[in-house]
Amino acid sequence: MDGAKGLFLLVSLLSSMLACVLCSRGSILRLETFHQLDNVPTVVKGLDLERYVGRWYEIASLPTFFMPKDGTDTRATYALNKNGTVDVLNETWVNGKRNSIKGIAYKDDPNSDEAKLKLKFYVPPEFPIFPIVGDYWVLYLDADYQYSIVGGPSRKSLFILSRKSHVDDETYKQLVQKAVDEGYDVSNLRKTPQSDTPPQ
Ligand SMILES: *[C@@H]1O[C@H](CO)[C@@H](O)[C@H](O)[C@H]1NC(C)=O
Ligand SMILES: *[C@@H]1O[C@H](CO)[C@@H](O)[C@H](O)[C@H]1NC(C)=O
Repeated sequence: MDGAKGLFLLVSLLSSMLACVLCSRGSILRLETFHQLDNVPTVVKGLDLERYVGRWYEIASLPTFFMPKDGTDTRATYALNKNGTVDVLNETWVNGKRNSIKGIAYKDDPNSDEAKLKLKFYVPPEFPIFPIVGDYWVLYLDADYQYSIVGGPSRKSLFILSRKSHVDDETYKQLVQKAVDEGYDVSNLRKTPQSDTPPQ
């Protein structure tokens, strides 16, 4: 081995060692960032599904892939099944035309008292073949079961729901603030247009 080759090898060895130190530092940094994001939102405990089912109006949500972005009068109707699962019907109206998707919700861990549900839908809605399972975590629920905030561990989905199709500004602000307190970025939150008289 001549001198030039040896020096070249030494330099590449040193630079790969340096790169490795940098890459491991990078991954430590990334791990720390990940660890911060890892604190998942707090979840309601002791959810009474019998009281929770029924109709909810979507007051605001973060845009999702599944529901049309320009939907109005968006609502969810839940019905408890005998086996403890919940039938889910989401409806929204686009240019006066009704869009709907059906799914089923069930407790992720039947032994936990946390309101962590899984929500299973089949897509596409018109021809349901591919199952999609998402998280349905109830992050906030008032004592009277009139307002609910639903999200998931990744904080990508957020739904502010109400038993009535309209909420006053003060209540709305408080609900949004609860989502912010749970670590949500609400800059893309869209207030769902709701008619004065909801569709039948
Ligand atoms: C249906 O609406 C609920 C909130 O009301 C939401 O959690 C769920 O992701 C929606 N599912 C679809 C497929 O739109
Ligand atoms: C529970 O009952 C519903 C409605 O009858 C049904 O669609 C669902 O498949 C059942 N799920 C389980 C896990 O038994």
